[in-house]
Amino acid sequence: MSKVTVVAPANIAFVKYWGARDLDQAIPRAPSLSMTLRQCTTRTTVAFAADEDGEDEVRLRTEEGTFRVPGASFTERVRQHLDRLRQWMGQAGTFRVATENTFPSGAGLASSASGFAALTVAATRTMGLVLEPEQLSVLARLSGSGSAARSVMGGYVEWPDMEVGDYPAMHLAGADHWDLRDVIAVVDPAPKTVSSRDGHRRAGTSPFYETRLQHLDERLEQARVALRHRDFEQLGPLIEEEAIELHLIAMSSRPPIYYWKPATLAVLEAVRGVRTDGVAAYATMDAGPNVHVICPAAEEAAVANRLERLPEVEAIIRDGVGPGPSTTTEHLF
Ligand code: DP6
Repeated sequence: MSKVTVVAPANIAFVKYWGARDLDQAIPRAPSLSMTLRQCTTRTTVAFAADEDGEDEVRLRTEEGTFRVPGASFTERVRQHLDRLRQWMGQAGTFRVATENTFPSGAGLASSASGFAALTVAATRTMGLVLEPEQLSVLARLSGSGSAARSVMGGYVEWPDMEVGDYPAMHLAGADHWDLRDVIAVVDPAPKTVSSRDGHRRAGTSPFYETRLQHLDERLEQARVALRHRDFEQLGPLIEEEAIELHLIAMSSRPPIYYWKPATLAVLEAVRGVRTDGVAAYATMDAGPNVHVICPAAEEAAVANRLERLPEVEAIIRDGVGPGPSTTTEHLF
């Protein structure tokens, strides 16, 4: 039996994937661009027994360090992905999987991105293949978590919207290109009530979705240029505009989706407040109520101090740009 443990990062999108051509294979209707995170990670240990023919075993490690059987839908998603990988590799056998996150799961902090990236890298390695990031990106995406396609690479990553092809993400710049930080204000660590999948499905019902698609390429190009020149004055407002637009689409979908909580608005107001004080910081939110405040390294402490004082904020995670997945010998079992 071979065993591999991989730590894979979450990521935060500056230009968001919202709406799919094919939901099961996570083929996006629009391009996206993200920053890979350093602190928010998933560690996954996978063991593969090529000679066995049983059911795959999936366990979650709790904060107390014990293992529990996850809910049926989680186990099912993992097993389906393992089936896909087995098929792709043309191998038979049984997997044993244990996984843990360093951050709250399912709350719009991209746990499925880091989770499926870790699972894809670890499972393919246990079957004896070390794949290129582009191949891993395509395989991770087939889990149905599109953002996982970006989590197999470090630094700054673009996931283009192509008419045909395999849709791998592309590495734009390494983590050392620009030391941006992400101060995450956790206002509600509970799992979201409407999945991203439902959000993608409903996106096209918003009367504003087609308008979004029309100007997205231009916004993406502006983001690329800002990234290339490390121009936060250009990138910051774009990040916030983009996040508001995603939520505008969600709120105007049929039926509408409200990911925001009152606390989300309190954080957004505080971010505007720090800007008035001369601190360069801009907010973004994925499909959840928590707020990622993006800023240059020099502004991180000021942002964190301000957010920590807000009664609406339950916890702060101080994160920043980081590398892609890595293997470790610190196995979970
Ligand atoms: C709002 O289909 O990747 O985060 O599988 O739940 O992680 P999960 O969602 P996924 O959609 C991500 C939507 C988004 C924007 C983004 O990350 O680009």
